[in-house]
Amino acid sequence: MDAAEKDPEFRNLLNWLTKHTGIKFREDQLRYTMNTVRQLMKRAGVDRYAEFRLSLAKHSNLLSDCIDQLTVGETYFFREPRHFEFIRHRVLPELRLRRGPLEPIRAWSAGCASGEEAYSLAIVFTQEHVSPASTILATDLSNTALEKARRAEFRPWSFRGQASDVVRSFASVSGDHYRLNERITRRVRFQRLNLAANTYPSPASGTRDMDLILCRNVLIYFGSETVGEISRRLYQCLAPGGWLITASGDPQLAGHADFEVVSSDQGVFYRRHLKVQPQPLQPVRGAAHVPRSGDATTEESNAGDKRPRIAPHVTVSAVASMPPQSARPLRRHMPGETVPVTAAGKIAAAVAASDAGDFARADRLTEDLVDHSEACLVRIKAVAAIDPRRATEICRAATVRHPLVEELHYLYGVLLSDADQPLMALESIRKAIFLNRSSVMSHFLFASIQLRRGQYDSARKHFRRVCELCAHGDPDDVLPLSNGETVSEIAVAAQSQLSRIELRPDSC
Ligand SMILES: C[S@@+](CC[C@H](N)C(=O)[O-])C[C@H]1O[C@@H](n2cnc3c(N)ncnc32)[C@H](O)[C@@H]1O
Repeated sequence: MDAAEKDPEFRNLLNWLTKHTGIKFREDQLRYTMNTVRQLMKRAGVDRYAEFRLSLAKHSNLLSDCIDQLTVGETYFFREPRHFEFIRHRVLPELRLRRGPLEPIRAWSAGCASGEEAYSLAIVFTQEHVSPASTILATDLSNTALEKARRAEFRPWSFRGQASDVVRSFASVSGDHYRLNERITRRVRFQRLNLAANTYPSPASGTRDMDLILCRNVLIYFGSETVGEISRRLYQCLAPGGWLITASGDPQLAGHADFEVVSSDQGVFYRRHLKVQPQPLQPVRGAAHVPRSGDATTEESNAGDKRPRIAPHVTVSAVASMPPQSARPLRRHMPGETVPVTAAGKIAAAVAASDAGDFARADRLTEDLVDHSEACLVRIKAVAAIDPRRATEICRAATVRHPLVEELHYLYGVLLSDADQPLMALESIRKAIFLNRSSVMSHFLFASIQLRRGQYDSARKHFRRVCELCAHGDPDDVLPLSNGETVSEIAVAAQSQLSRIELRPDSC
């Protein structure tokens, strides 16, 4: 280090920057940092470090420029593609099963730079038909980056990742750049937020109750103390069961907050524990039905903080430390575990175990009860929380053993659809419809899959059927087979999908 780098005014400026942005300046890069700062000072017409510090405190755009120069705002679409595969194949299916297919999702790209990460997420949400009421918050400290992100215009360099063709299909060419379609841009809301400041979680910043946070390639700039503080705040921002995704080169967060660490083929990720509410024992039927909280939302409504939270037993939530597609057999019974004697007792205990988030116990309690369709339903939902592939197999066997149980065919359809097997899913839902022609949820699921496949006539026919059936129901009734959705919610969702189909240029 030479004398200039030891200049106390320069050191004060760096300390001030660290305090306000979290960025830690490496001693071996001080020469580079100093040159960058001097260039910025020259541009700002300022001569002294102390004066520059005052200007930075007053002018957020100047601070932005400074951050831009001192960090690498480097980003591109679908950077680390396996993270987006994890979101597509693990996070979204899990949320759908836990909360229902129409529930809005809250996501946050923290340290979004010029927006490619947030827009990549918006593309995945669009491809996966995630509720349009879902929100993607994208924040950065740099105003310059945020302005660029809001313009949604990108040069070919931003498309250098594997998924460049996919991104281009959501953009139109304008001069020498690509402009993302409104279909994608309207899903993302940009806002300035300093991750190093203690201003979140807060309702004002809209950072509460997140289902998914991406904070990638940002924490590398911070010292370990700041990384710890940010980790704890991000943890607080997550909804129970919510995921935090960091980049493979980012520091480890496990020791900083109470995260579950999930190791998967796509990387190591963090998850907030599902809060388990003690629940009264439900009658057995309760296992297949999702109680609904008072604050209903519709597909078109604002996600806000009022989303109904669905009781954990219905769903399928993950035991995060297990790999997603694990075929690991579960032990039959744990030492000291009390096992009821009768089938009804076992089923009731399995429901209670699922309620408490102990899906492995629910599985063990019901695995011998293959002749009881109720037990199969409880077990499939529990196993889907920890191993969707095995749940699909159990469900397949259950549909063979109980061919007249509509809910099993429906559930099999849901699992197959989530496993990207639309044709088999349609076949199973067809059977559910055959068993009950007035099943709103089966028609709705059938239509949604057909829509995804581009089979618009068939999708239109089944969405219309949903509307007809809903017209005869009480708007506030919770629909059978649903995860708590009411007649009016599904009717609105079907109507909105129908309008979209009708608006298609090739629509007749
Ligand atoms: C390398 S980019 C990461 C972009 C994107 N997350 C990705 O992985 O491709 C790092 C971003 O972190 C932002 N950043 C740095 N310090 C920050 C802070 N204290 N608060 C919020 N954002 C910050 C920078 O402005 C920059 O845009």
